[in-house]
Amino acid sequence: MCGIFGYIGRKEALPFLIEGLKKLEYRGYDSAGVATIKGGKIQLSKCVGKISFLEDKLAQKPLTGKIGIGHTRWATHGQPSDENSHPHQDCKSELAVVHNGIIENYQELKIQLSGRGHRFLSSTDTEVLAHLIEENYQGDLLSAVRKTIETVRGTYAMAVISKSDPKKIVVARSGSPLIIGLGENELFLSSDIPAMLKYTSRVIYLENGELAVMTPGGVKVFDLKGKEIAKEIDLISWDPESAEKGGYAHFMLKEIHEQPNAIRKTIAGRIQPDSHKIHFDELTMTKEEMRTINRVVFTACGTSWHAGLIGEYLFEQFARLPTEVEYAAEFRYRHPIIDKNTLVIAITQSGETADTLGAVWEARAQGAKTIAICNVVGSTIARESDGVIYTNAGPEIGVASTKAFTTQLTVIYLLALLFGKVREIISESEATKLIQDLIEIPDKLEKVLLGEEGIAKIAGKFYQATNSLYLGRGKGFPIALEGALKLKEVSYIHAEGYPAAEMKHGPIALIDKNMPVVILAFAGRRYEKVLGNIEEVKARGGQVIAIATEGDDAIARQADEVLYIPNTTEALSPLLAAVPLQIFAYYIALKRGCHVDQPRNLAKSVTVE
Ligand code: AGP
Repeated sequence: MCGIFGYIGRKEALPFLIEGLKKLEYRGYDSAGVATIKGGKIQLSKCVGKISFLEDKLAQKPLTGKIGIGHTRWATHGQPSDENSHPHQDCKSELAVVHNGIIENYQELKIQLSGRGHRFLSSTDTEVLAHLIEENYQGDLLSAVRKTIETVRGTYAMAVISKSDPKKIVVARSGSPLIIGLGENELFLSSDIPAMLKYTSRVIYLENGELAVMTPGGVKVFDLKGKEIAKEIDLISWDPESAEKGGYAHFMLKEIHEQPNAIRKTIAGRIQPDSHKIHFDELTMTKEEMRTINRVVFTACGTSWHAGLIGEYLFEQFARLPTEVEYAAEFRYRHPIIDKNTLVIAITQSGETADTLGAVWEARAQGAKTIAICNVVGSTIARESDGVIYTNAGPEIGVASTKAFTTQLTVIYLLALLFGKVREIISESEATKLIQDLIEIPDKLEKVLLGEEGIAKIAGKFYQATNSLYLGRGKGFPIALEGALKLKEVSYIHAEGYPAAEMKHGPIALIDKNMPVVILAFAGRRYEKVLGNIEEVKARGGQVIAIATEGDDAIARQADEVLYIPNTTEALSPLLAAVPLQIFAYYIALKRGCHVDQPRNLAKSVTVE
């Protein structure tokens, strides 16, 4: 997820661009850049690092001009670097493009363009847009952008300026947000409303498949055929603070709701539409190398470690590979017995967790192959591992990990299927069915999110608890741990995740009417046993909140509360079941007046041992 911003009007554009990009920095902050037009020439400045680095550069050499575009980057393709920063230009530096999204067919386009003599300066997907527009430009920027869109596949919110058409900004949108702000004789464009709310509250939302031409005199919107469209002007009532969170009260809630789209982005470009073949662009491991692997070790911390526990089930189920999960801090100091046939998979949202980094160094020292599953392109672990697979979830600002977790599970599921196919454990038809089940998950998650109000109501009954238990069997057990961690870290209620079968070996002594017990009871091989555990808790006066599969009416007669998730293949139920527990923890924390986005004592990335 990146942030784009633009200005056209009677004032100098640069101050607006910098101010706007700062407001969008939470969308991505590994590099930034701006471009303006002055005297029929494009002026451009960009660099790796936060926007403050760009400001320092501009202080030496400011840009001038009353029309400009800017970009703050969250890298997906191409490491964070000066040359990979946006804006990108054509061969003759006559135009500049900023883009938020993923051009899925950029590699084939890049090969074709290079074959026609275009010279590329970056390894990004975006740069193909600049060279395509260059090729398609025959005197009208809008039609050049329209022709370009016909050849690309993927998502985009883009803004283009050209010295040949110096009085306009052309924008286009499909799959990534783009809003146009209408000021007094000036126009703004932005990925999100907060960046321009201070200048205007009159906005036009560009819809997928729409383009617009912005001039100081106003804006015209067109469809992909070039037909002009009448658009309503919306009036924004948000205050700037809440607008930064897209209208949500907290980043955590915003990121919970971003999960369906985050998973769509995680999947994008990795499943070939027709053949359902799985492919990770950034993974260099060959199929032959995959076949040499005879053991897998997941290593991580916190929520990422819980994702590894699910990975253990999936790799053993789909790839029949002996798999273990190790806390990174334990793994790195235990002199683990691993070798060149061991695959160590490090899972980390930030890519900077000290212990997880240490585990990768230990694994490599012992000759194991290492892959990082990470959300931050160019992070330390991405550079220190043999291979990396990005979750592409976009920046996760809330300390409590939510969309990072479900996108990690998405990557792990695909990777387990890939190994299962390479090792000929699962057939093409089985893999196709399992991939189709995954493709349906984002829509099913949207359905889970519709239950937010009901979950908030249930949270209102339990927010004064001082202790709680989360129980699960099989793949439900890691979700029990994850749900307990969510509650602990945002509400400060002591919560313990436990294998449901272990209840009889001690924890059942804790059960009384003041102990809410969350039980993962979604459909699966162990469902009947879990019902027995619910009985055990109820028989001792405990209160049970069950996570169950839609259509299971019987459980409503046993549990005190039921949070339903849509039916899906058992291997994907954990992904769905995690979300009601995220919402449950969020609303309990809210009721308890806790600082949801920055809980006490916690940091988003633990870069110390
Ligand atoms: C999860 O909600 C916590 N914020 C924490 O456990 C986190 O998962 C852990 O610190 C690992 O972080 P990483 O994924 O960035 O390595």
